Amino acid sequence: MNFIVNNIKQLLGVLDSDIALLRGKEMALLKGISNAWLQVKDHKIVAFGRMDNPEYPRLLAENPEIRLVDAEQGLVLPSFCDAHTHLVYPASREIEYVDKIKGLSYEEIARRGGGILNSAKAMQKADENELFEAAMQRLSEIAAMGTASVEIKSGYGLTTESELKMLRVIRRLKEASPMKIKANFLGAHAVPAEYKGRQTEYVDLIINEMIPMVAAEELADFIDVFCDKGFFTVEDTDRILNAGMKYGLRAKIHANELDRSGGIQVGVKYNALSVDHLEYTGDEEIEALSGSETMPVVLPGAAFFLNMPLAPARKMIDSGLPVAMASDFNPGSSPSGNMQLILSMASILYRLLPEEGLNATTINGAYAMDVSNETGSITIGKRADFYITKPISGIEYMPYYFGTNKISKAFVNGLLQ
Ligand code: NIG
Ligand code: FE
Repeated sequence: MNFIVNNIKQLLGVLDSDIALLRGKEMALLKGISNAWLQVKDHKIVAFGRMDNPEYPRLLAENPEIRLVDAEQGLVLPSFCDAHTHLVYPASREIEYVDKIKGLSYEEIARRGGGILNSAKAMQKADENELFEAAMQRLSEIAAMGTASVEIKSGYGLTTESELKMLRVIRRLKEASPMKIKANFLGAHAVPAEYKGRQTEYVDLIINEMIPMVAAEELADFIDVFCDKGFFTVEDTDRILNAGMKYGLRAKIHANELDRSGGIQVGVKYNALSVDHLEYTGDEEIEALSGSETMPVVLPGAAFFLNMPLAPARKMIDSGLPVAMASDFNPGSSPSGNMQLILSMASILYRLLPEEGLNATTINGAYAMDVSNETGSITIGKRADFYITKPISGIEYMPYYFGTNKISKAFVNGLLQ
């Protein structure tokens, strides 16, 4: 596995290896070189430069057998880092979606036992191999559209056995897929029907049984809570994150999707790696995030699909914060893992410049799942996670020409997808 991509119109997203994330004004910069080549060896980016530099013919002369991949004047960009998905799920939920069209809200559907509980019912019966195969299929789908690293949550189990089943599927995905995958334990995604009115008892179950078992099998990298109106309270969240921390599980939480829930503040209190959704974010929350190590992650697909107010991503960046954007790929609130579409939404709906959108979906996404030392930019020594676009005018075309695949070749860990 040693090849050179040549005839690259622009090689972009070049960063020094010590950059873990970009914040505020830095997000509008996308460094790179034009008329470029890029060398991959043993799954890693090992060199790049300009085609008209004498180094290039020298490299070819020294490696006469090397395989050449002609970029045909396409751009080369770092692959998308999708820091928030629920892509292990038993079945799609398009019927419920029709109820939504008829006017039922996300919370109303949830109260009727639909939503997450609907998936949980199906998950308990689901066969582990079938879950794995379906998720592998989804991974290939998103790999072809330019994603090379992805965080996947549990949370459709809601019983110890079923949560462990989901996490074991994620572990198998880590082994079988060339993608960089992180596993997130989201036992606190919804209160299961059997625990209705006894929410604290369910939180106790998560703390006393699920977390220790998840940790004993080393099934999760992170721990998550859906801290929001109608789901888990700040107090529940505090208890769960505290318990997770004792087992070395770093927090990443769902916050402020349905209300100004206090989720952002409790996330920052526990030094969460990220707080995600953030539709209901005011000055107080922005203040709490300033100076913290917590990445705000905006999920345009969910806001779009549920017709919700938009998180103030523009304001966050203008206030000096970093912002990441992810797909939230799941059967209920964002049935798409297409990060090219997220990039378009970043510009169209949230007024991010193309450079800001690209940084939000690459290096900042990588930070939000703790992989920015391995992927998320064109950097010597990082995984060869990048894609070659069709011949397009420049990066502006990426968000502009929305809804289609602008990629001609996608590489995940140096492997053509
Ligand atoms: O991130 N907000 C909570 N959880 C998911 C929705 C999952 C579902 O509806 O199945 C989300 O949007
Ligand atoms: Fe989610």
